Amino acid sequence: MPEFPQLTADEAAATIQNGQTIGFSGFTAAGSVKAVPLAIAARARAFHQRDEPFQINVITGASTGPSLDGALARENAIHWRTPYQSDPDLRKSINDGHTMFFDMHLSQLPAQIRQGVLGPIDVAIVEAADVAKDGSVVLTTSVGATPTFLDHAKRVIIELNRYHPPELRGIHDIYQPAAPPFTQPIPLLTASDRIGSEVVRVDPRKIIGIVETNLPNESKTFTPASDITGRIGAHVADFLAAEMRRGLIPRDFLPLQSGVGNTANSVLAALGGHPAIPAFTLYSEVLQDAVIELIDQEQCRFASATSLTLSQPLLQQVYRNLDHYRSRFVLRPQEITNHPEIIRRLGIIAVNTAIEVDVFGNVNSTHVLGQKLMNGIGGSGDFTRNAYLSIFVCPSTAKDSCITTIVPACSHMDHSEHSVHVVVTEHGVADLRGKDPRQRAEAIIRHCADPQYREALWEYFHLTRSGHLPQSLEYSYSFHKSFLESGDMRHVHYPRQSP
Ligand code: COA
Repeated sequence: MPEFPQLTADEAAATIQNGQTIGFSGFTAAGSVKAVPLAIAARARAFHQRDEPFQINVITGASTGPSLDGALARENAIHWRTPYQSDPDLRKSINDGHTMFFDMHLSQLPAQIRQGVLGPIDVAIVEAADVAKDGSVVLTTSVGATPTFLDHAKRVIIELNRYHPPELRGIHDIYQPAAPPFTQPIPLLTASDRIGSEVVRVDPRKIIGIVETNLPNESKTFTPASDITGRIGAHVADFLAAEMRRGLIPRDFLPLQSGVGNTANSVLAALGGHPAIPAFTLYSEVLQDAVIELIDQEQCRFASATSLTLSQPLLQQVYRNLDHYRSRFVLRPQEITNHPEIIRRLGIIAVNTAIEVDVFGNVNSTHVLGQKLMNGIGGSGDFTRNAYLSIFVCPSTAKDSCITTIVPACSHMDHSEHSVHVVVTEHGVADLRGKDPRQRAEAIIRHCADPQYREALWEYFHLTRSGHLPQSLEYSYSFHKSFLESGDMRHVHYPRQSP
């Protein structure tokens, strides 16, 4: 047992002060601390009941579980938040203007902490499977930005979660690049290379206490593939198989990155089941249930990620057979899983999900109707911008077909036309490579738009004949305006064209 002070969650929370910046472990609910943030939320409630201010600034790897983002948001205890979130209560708090949120490429968070852009980190609160007297910390089911938090925080609180076995030691590969001008090439040449340490080393004098818990991860389960997401997955798999036949993807395939959400999960399942696609490696952010199933079916040769976001039964299966899985996946810092240098070098095929795509190939991943934050850009920009082949997928409509996801102009832009190679909906595939804006628009409307919206999109396309980019500044948001006015984008109308 390590010789650090044992604290209750309440005692640990009592050390956190209004206005402090906290680096919490976690990338998705995997590896997120649970007991201490719940206690901090209770502390905030007590302050607010006395009409005293209490808000903290929250930095994590990415999204977290309900005991962290949800509990703190419900108590209005978060002043600002970065780099990503997916909690409904926090989303509401951000969209209502109670919490400030700045969206970031996940690969850039550790570097910005090192630069000091986000100010000092007062406390790192980190979930661990084991911690030794010398400050060696074995993380649990995610790495994320935790090594950077541990390096840069003034003080450290460890949630030692007995739910996770100390034998997790060895599934992590901790490598942190030096800051410029001393940055070296990252010596990672294949998805399965190990280039760092099994543990994170923290100065033991910074550890102010250990909170022991025994709490399962709070991971959400994905909705099973629907007819629509299944068709999207099948189109992606057929497209990639055709690319292999054309010789544009090597016969052994290339490492795959698959984004977050229901659609991306279905794509992964479709790829695993496609007869022409060989067993592949994953170089991605999150290992979901589908990946463990692909590993078991020997469809996935190796998986590299920053978090192991599994349902409880599957995580228990992994824990019962850790030695078997140890040689089949690795967890790395998000700075490495999402690093542009590595993504380019490995030749990643990136598959991410869009909220809307415009007819010229620009993508909105984050803001509904240009205003309401959904989750954040996450790693989609890191992968998309640097991928060998960058694919965006989405159902062609949302909200009972009242919204078309293929629009004349994105209401918010995350990925520009230059980074988007292929767009796929349940209706088909638009390959945008080597096409000018008019050709891209034709491909997207013809192959990806829902038939209910195609005619209106053609009308828009024919409104303007001049310019390299045939946009109508007057009408580019008419679909969105129609939804705001009538609740249905199908009510859009354009002026009659003169013959
Ligand atoms: N307008 C309004 N709502 C829309 C919409 C649009 N154009 N497109 C999707 N939605 C809504 C859906 O209706 C659904 O709402 P619900 O939760 O009320 O049912 C919700 O957005 C999620 O859509 P869904 O089709 O279930 O997709 P998903 O689970 O695959 O998530 C994203 C899609 C874009 C929200 C998600 O992938 C994301 O946050 N991406 C950004 C980060 C990222 O790409 N990370 C990967 C990096 S490795």
